[in-house]
Amino acid sequence: MEVFTSVKSLRQYLDQQLLQQKTIGLVPTMGALHEGHISLIEAAKNGTDIVVCSIFVNPTQFNNPEDLAKYPRTFEEDRAMLEKAGCSAVFAPAVEEMYPEQPVLKINFGELETVMEGASRPGHFNGVGIVVSKLFNIVRPHRAYFGQKDLQQVSVVSQLVRDLAFGLELVICPTVRENDGLAMSSRNRRLSDAERAIAPQIYKILAGACDALLAGEAVNAVTTEAEALFKAAPGFTLDYFEVINIKTLRPVDQIGPEGGNAICVAAFLGPVRLIDNVIF
Ligand code: PAJ
Repeated sequence: MEVFTSVKSLRQYLDQQLLQQKTIGLVPTMGALHEGHISLIEAAKNGTDIVVCSIFVNPTQFNNPEDLAKYPRTFEEDRAMLEKAGCSAVFAPAVEEMYPEQPVLKINFGELETVMEGASRPGHFNGVGIVVSKLFNIVRPHRAYFGQKDLQQVSVVSQLVRDLAFGLELVICPTVRENDGLAMSSRNRRLSDAERAIAPQIYKILAGACDALLAGEAVNAVTTEAEALFKAAPGFTLDYFEVINIKTLRPVDQIGPEGGNAICVAAFLGPVRLIDNVIF
């Protein structure tokens, strides 16, 4: 597996691959890899000849400096996991390589960024939009792989690809969970043992709410119940719990008969903010 830290050396490698008619898959990550990330590498291996995994903790998408400072950085473990998974190349640039100067451009995703993560983390999707655009321009992949765990990120990246004609295929992969239901996340490493023990409540409440909605309970009642469950669970501070339409990301009053809905949740466990969702 090749490791590149400069755009120039990565491009030279990829140009060689293109000469040999290889297709290129990109898996963008911020490192501290887990099985969720590896599932994207597996999907990319199935879909393209060459798999490039980028590892870059992107400062422009963090609205909270403490979250950025404490974001886990585990490059040697990441490299070993990628090697084992059969990844072809890692792109791990320094901040100065990705941002030789502060970008002036701002990306506004309109309605898509006024809700949920966009509302709670001002500027977050601008940073995601900038870094994902840069990675698409640097790697020029045929396919790019993203996780459903970050449902709103999937919406904004799809919009980006359409609006800016990136000419690549997005492949969206299901959320990988621990045995107890907790969605895998790099931030789980920051949980204390006590927090880790109660963290699966997030998915339990989500799954319970999903069952209740499918059984015909009203959206309002289910939301109120879920919010009460979070309030009653010591250690949690709920940020939002929303039943939405997955196209518009807007909250809905009732769920449609033919699906297209999701429940999205963000909650703090101590200082660590976790998100999860179920689509139904
Ligand atoms: P990061 O949080 O490292 O996630 C990288 C990719 O892995 C994202 O597409 C994310 O949705 C996916 N992922 C995370 N946890 C997952 C899980 N449990 N199951 C399946 N997929 C999972 O998302 C980012 O980084 C950044 O915003 C990035 C796109 C790299 C831009 O900086």
